[in-house]
Amino acid sequence: MRKLLRLVYVSHALFEVAPDSPDIEPELANILTKARKNNQRDNIGGALFFANGYFFQCLEGKEAAVYALLEKIKLDPRHKDLKISYCKRVRQRHFKFWSMKYVPVGDEVNQLIHSLGYEEFNPVNFAESDINSIVDLFTRIDDNTLSDSSLREYHRLNVFWWQRFATRLLRRSAT
Ligand SMILES: Cc1cc2nc3c(=O)[nH]c(=O)nc-3n(C[C@H](O)[C@H](O)[C@H](O)COP(=O)(O)O)c2cc1C
Repeated sequence: MRKLLRLVYVSHALFEVAPDSPDIEPELANILTKARKNNQRDNIGGALFFANGYFFQCLEGKEAAVYALLEKIKLDPRHKDLKISYCKRVRQRHFKFWSMKYVPVGDEVNQLIHSLGYEEFNPVNFAESDINSIVDLFTRIDDNTLSDSSLREYHRLNVFWWQRFATRLLRRSAT
């Protein structure tokens, strides 16, 4: 019996995309850091893509672990309207070496979306076969953005700058 599950869901992000943001959205970096830490522990793998205000995430792992994670993700206030687009038992993982691969927006994905007949990335109504093609492409795209350790560093710097900003504001309002 196959106990591995591959589940793909799409959802709508609820956070504002920061203008002039660097390589990766700060909130996305937070999600990835947490996902990589937890998923390694729970033997879950997958890929995360964020475009046009939508999350597109593939989760792979033991059925019980994937469903347990899904329940947590459903409750996350950073997104809404989560819809499962694909859910099947599989023999092998696509993302065997990734606790959570980050797939950046780029020409390859855009070209595929257009070749499938869609004008933009609005995955809510994508057909199952198209979801499969997208996940398949994700296995071939490099995650050359941030490694686990640089994500942690990024997060640390982010917190640092916000703390500095808040301290300055407090000082200013006290004078
Ligand atoms: C789009 C999206 C994808 C997420 N993916 C994962 C994931 O793969 N693994 C994970 O542990 N948490 C993920 N999270 C975060 C969870 O919703 C939740 O905040 C987290 O699992 C809580 O972890 P904790 O129990 O260690 O505090 C995701 C959140 C969002 C919004």
